[in-house]
Amino acid sequence: MNALLQVRDLVVRYGARRAVDGVSFDVAAGETVGLVGPSGCGKSTTAAAVLRLLRPAAGSVRFDGTELTTLGASALRALRPRFQTVFQDPYAALSPRRRVRDQIAEPLRIHGLWSRADGPPRVAELLDRVGLDPALGERLPHELSGGQAQRVGIARALATRPELLVLDEPTSALDPSVRAGILNLLMDLQDTLGVGTLFISHDRAAVRHVCDRVLTMREGRLTA
Ligand SMILES: Nc1ncnc2c1ncn2[C@@H]1O[C@H](COP(=O)(O)OP(=O)(O)O)[C@@H](O)[C@H]1O
Ligand SMILES: [Mg+2]
Repeated sequence: MNALLQVRDLVVRYGARRAVDGVSFDVAAGETVGLVGPSGCGKSTTAAAVLRLLRPAAGSVRFDGTELTTLGASALRALRPRFQTVFQDPYAALSPRRRVRDQIAEPLRIHGLWSRADGPPRVAELLDRVGLDPALGERLPHELSGGQAQRVGIARALATRPELLVLDEPTSALDPSVRAGILNLLMDLQDTLGVGTLFISHDRAAVRHVCDRVLTMREGRLTA
């Protein structure tokens, strides 16, 4: 059976330099795979290729059997709700002037999944799911703590009920005191939602704690 995510011989170049140089791995449905390695080794570039935010120079990225690297715009748009991402800096990922509830609603609206009857309760459910009081939906991002803002980012990523989450350093910008809470939330979400996850971090201990399996990257390659 095909893995949910299948990456084969991925190569990404910036100019003459290979930031990712022949990377292959799978993420099975419901599996949490860690990707660790030092700063600059190519982790975020790998994530960007998986999310089709860039086109690799070579190699294959298959999501549920569909080749993403060559996929046309409309087919890609149809698949996007099924794989979502959470970024490192929770404030940068949010629009400064829009209320939390509208930001969580945004992916539902974009993908035509919003309705006036079901939308607001779904947003409240998502806030509750990530451990936030639904009343926080009225706030603006600057009225949130870093940990709360990252929970909003996770709620937004979950809005479309994705099968795959790509988390790129989701705790690295956070205060150490709130990091553990976010890691516990991620583990809880895996248990309850069973969403496949690629968890990228330079923090090997955090990744070991959360992941079924850990891949190590160095200078653009996975080490054996
Ligand atoms: N947009 C870009 N243009 C040129 N070089 C880049 C770009 N993004 C990243 N790089 C370089 O590619 C390498 C891998 O970067 P990155 O994937 O961000 O690593 P990591 O996420 O592991 O820290 C680094 O040497 C970085 O400087
Ligand atoms: Mg990075």
